[in-house]
This record gives sequence, C-alpha cells and structure tokens, in this order.
Amino acid sequence: MNTSSRASACPLKGGGGSMKACTCRCSAAAVASSSVQIADHLGGSNMVKVTTVKTKPYADQKPGTSGLRKRVTVFQQNQHYAENFIQSIISVIEPAERQAATVVVGGDGRFFMKEAIQLIVQIAAANGIGHLVIGQNGIMSTPAVSCVIRKVKAVGGIILTASHNPGGPNGDFGIKYNISSGGPAPEGITDKIFEISKTLQEYQICPELKADLAKIGKQIFEVDTFKPFTVEIVDCVDAYAEMLREIFNFAALKELLSGANHINVRLDAMHGVVGPYVKKIVCEELGSPSNSAVNCVPQEDFGGHHPDPNLTYAADLVNTMKGGEYEFGAAFDGDGDRNMVLGKNGFFVNPSDSVAVIAANFTSIPYFQKTGVKGLARSMPTSGALDNVAKALQMQLYETPTGWKFFGNLMDAGKLSLCGEESFGTGSDHIREKDGLWAVLAWLSILAARKQSVEEIMKDHWQKFGRNFFTRYDYEEVDSDAANKMIKDLETAMFDPSFVGKKFSSGDKTYEVAVSDNFAYTDPVDGSVSKNQGLRMIFSDGSRIIFRLSGTGSAGATIRLYIDSYEKDPQKIYQDPQVMLAPLIDIALKVSQLQEKTGRTGPTVIT
Ligand code: G1P
Ligand code: ZN
Repeated sequence: MNTSSRASACPLKGGGGSMKACTCRCSAAAVASSSVQIADHLGGSNMVKVTTVKTKPYADQKPGTSGLRKRVTVFQQNQHYAENFIQSIISVIEPAERQAATVVVGGDGRFFMKEAIQLIVQIAAANGIGHLVIGQNGIMSTPAVSCVIRKVKAVGGIILTASHNPGGPNGDFGIKYNISSGGPAPEGITDKIFEISKTLQEYQICPELKADLAKIGKQIFEVDTFKPFTVEIVDCVDAYAEMLREIFNFAALKELLSGANHINVRLDAMHGVVGPYVKKIVCEELGSPSNSAVNCVPQEDFGGHHPDPNLTYAADLVNTMKGGEYEFGAAFDGDGDRNMVLGKNGFFVNPSDSVAVIAANFTSIPYFQKTGVKGLARSMPTSGALDNVAKALQMQLYETPTGWKFFGNLMDAGKLSLCGEESFGTGSDHIREKDGLWAVLAWLSILAARKQSVEEIMKDHWQKFGRNFFTRYDYEEVDSDAANKMIKDLETAMFDPSFVGKKFSSGDKTYEVAVSDNFAYTDPVDGSVSKNQGLRMIFSDGSRIIFRLSGTGSAGATIRLYIDSYEKDPQKIYQDPQVMLAPLIDIALKVSQLQEKTGRTGPTVIT
C-alpha cells in the first residue's frame, strides 16, 4: 500500500461552515455561498489523503443490458468488488478532464446503495474528479439522473440500481454508468470499462473522506495535492419537476386531477424511488389527493416485493383498479424509469400499445407541439403497433436492439423524439432514459385533451390502426447451460437453409416462415454494429416469434419469448391476447423444445 499526503496551506482548513475570502489554491472562495461548507471530517482539517490499494481483477464485471447487476452478496463479500468496478468506471474519464468534471450520482434507495455512494465519493476524490452532484440521501430516480446530467453539463453519472430486480440483503444491486448526453453508456464505453476491470491491479481511494449525504448544499474537500473536491447534495425532485413543467401543460393536468370534474387516480410507487416525485409533483403540485399515491417511501428491500410494474408483481394495483373506484392507475419500478398504465376496472394497456397511443396523440403534449416529432423508435421485440402509427403519420421508424442505450444516438442526431420498449419503458428525447412519470403525465395529458377513458382511447386506437396482439413469456432463473444450449440448438435449426418456407401449424392456424435470423443492428448514426440481439422467426403474415436471453438477470439465465401478431378485422380486435396468440405460443414452444430442454413447464411471468 502506498500512501502519500501533503499539508494544506489553506486558511479555511479549520473547517466549519463560516466562509471568508480565500486566496490560496484551494479555490474554496470561488464557490463561496451560504450553502457552502468546508467539510471538517478530519478532526478540523478538510485535507484528505489519497491511498493506493492493491487489488486483484475480477473476470465477471461485464456490464449487461443496463449496467453491472449482481446479488448484493457478490458486492459485499468479494473483497474490493465494488471498488474495482467504480475505479474501472472512473478510469474511462480522461485524467486531463477530471478536475473540471462534474459527475452526478444517485440511486433507487436499495440496500447497499449508501455504502456504494460513499465508495464513489472516496474513489472519485482520489482520482481527481472535481465535483459530484448527489441526490439527498443518495436518492435520485434514473430519469432524474439523466435530467440532472444534462442540466449541469456533467461528464456523466453513476446510477446505483438494479432497476426492477428485488432488493435487500439477499436481493440485487447494480452500478450503471451514463454519459454526458444523460444516456446509458454505449457499448464502446461499457466494453472499455470491462477491459479495465479485467486487468485492474490497484485503485485510488480517500478512505477517510465521508460526505454528509443528508445535508443539501456543497461540501468542499482538499484532496492531497490541493485539488478542491466538491460534493454537492441536491433535492432529488427539483430539477426534474422544473423540466416536466416545460414539457406538459400543468394547468390542464391540475384541472384533470383536482378540478371540478376531476378523475381519481391511483399511483403505486412500489416502495421505489419514484415515491418522492409522485408526492411532490402529482399530489402537492397537481393537487391529486395524497391518498391517491401509495407505497411512496423508498425502502431498501422494496417492502420485500419485486419493484416491477407488470401484471404479476403489481397485482395489488391491478386488484385495486378492478374495484372501479379509479379511472387511471399506474405503477413504477424501483428506479422510476418503467411504468405500467391501467384504466378503470383494471383495463391493461400493453406497453407496446402505450407508446403507439402517445405517438398518435402527440399534439396533446406541448413539448411535441414545440419540437415536432422527428422520428419514432421501438426495440426489436416490441410489437409493431408503433410502426402502424409511423406509417399513418408518415414518420420515420427505427427498430433497435433491446435496451434504452440504442435510442441515444438517434436522439442526439435529431432523428428521434419518441420511443418505447415492450418491457414497460416509454420515453422521449427530453432526456436519455426511459421515464415512468413522464409516461404517466403523457397519458394524463391525452386523457385531459380527449376527455375519454383509457379504455375508450385504446379501443379507438385499435379501430383506427388495427391491433398488434402481443405477449411476452419470461422463464426466470433457468439453468444457464440448459438455456444457452436451447438457444444454440434453435439457432442451428433456424439457420438451416430449409427453415425459410417451412410451415408450422397449431389448431386451424398455419404459419409459413418468411425470415429467420439473429437480429443485427447497424447504428445509422455511427455505423456501429450490434449482433446476436435475438432470434427472430417472421412469418408471411408478419407475425413474429422472438427468443432472446436477458442481459439484466443476476442468477442463472432468463429466457424471454415474445409473440407479436397483427389483426385488423374489427370483429377480432377486442379478443384476449392469450387466446389469439395461443397457436403461435404453441409453435414457439414446439420449435424451441423449451420445455424439454429446460424442464420448465410454464413461464414465471406472462405479460
Ligand atoms: C430488460 C428489458 C429491456 C430493458 C432492460 C432495462 O432487459 O427486456 O427492454 O431495456 O431490461 O430495463 P433484458 O433483461 O431483457 O436484457
Ligand atoms: Zn428501471
């Protein structure tokens, strides 16, 4: 271990909150304000030492679809595991840029978050980062982090979340890096982080530095060679709320939620990070009664539940909505980027339809009136509902691989305004993450403009555009070898030249294979190619069967099976998707031999 330090010459180093002009190189005076404090955690000195710690690299720190996700125990029990990964992230920021750099830090409140944030503070300081902006008590939703990165022109952000995965000592933890656009780091950067992590021999840390995460304002530390290091604690809602006020017509939303003819809404934050946002924006500002928002205090273990807004894990909300008391319901995931929308009596809006409805009604949202809609996009497994709107409105549509990061380049290039994924993700180019509360306000704006119920809006939409029946089957925690073999065998079969043209039947339905491939995407902006993004069977009527392995699971493998089939016959569009899609599901299970090869007789979750 190599420790070095230098004495500080700063007259303010005695610490405390009182500020006076300072002429030394510590530059404290440059940021003097009433909220500025020179931290005094070192017994009266704000000088902190940098320590170099020897470590051993880990081979398994490859970021997945959305950052590095592992069991909490992996982060806790393996020596330097979190430190190594944090150092690998910070190492991708050029040393010459670090002193002028701001990095935003926030998380969804899950178990181990606060420890991880203290490590980030200590490692960022030791690596010469100039400024961290952190949500109070570490809390900040993923969309809010994206918003703040853009607002303060940060070089990037670190988000502590495993999104919708369960939390607590036996749950999951995750660390994700976002870039200066506010979006998830693209593969070029996540690959670099992984490469660094595989050979890391040491990391830099200021072990004695402790930031007070509860206290709003700036804390300034002098790190070793007189480098000032500022930790700025901010309210987690303010900047995000300010942004939403620019996007939506808050007066109209207020009228809808608390005017004379207001509707009743039920919003379930599922003990995740979105609680404070819903309380402040929807209840306090837009006037919805405080009991319309539930589970709004972020908990380290999400109350023991999966903070995942789908029909299985948000069953409480679904059941409450079935009572008919509320006209609109929504749930959010742990870090606030996902959403599920329900209408009265529990009417379910499929996320693939949700983005299509928002696109078809974009004029209800002032932001889109101002910017216009430059283009639409969906991830490959998401149903073709959005394609139908794009065609009708003559808008460009992009089909990207799974994961929000692929939308960023298109947005930065001014080609994309609105996009969505079947996995309960909806968003626009106002930030570079999907945005749960934004999606809810988008729907409420449409309700306010059309003065119709959720169900009426959805049914009108299907009448006009036809309906894409869609379902997703998830087989969670399947034995990895079995899952990999199943996918490999299926790929081999699908790549046989005789596969195209093959006919598959189930009941009275027969489908002929028109396309069979493993989806590859060439980014139209930078030309980068992403291969092996999911096995696709596209039939001659446009119906699709898709298989892919999840990139966000933390144990075993999760197999996802997606089915999409278009119907324009008005007599058939109100049928139950599970009934309509039964023949394709049957074919998918037969062709893949999923049950035989994995031992699973049924999925864990059906959407
Ligand atoms: C899942 C979803 C994907 C989403 C991602 C992050 O990834 O399928 O659409 O972007 O979570 O929320 P997967 O586990 O399928 O790799
Ligand atoms: Zn999430």
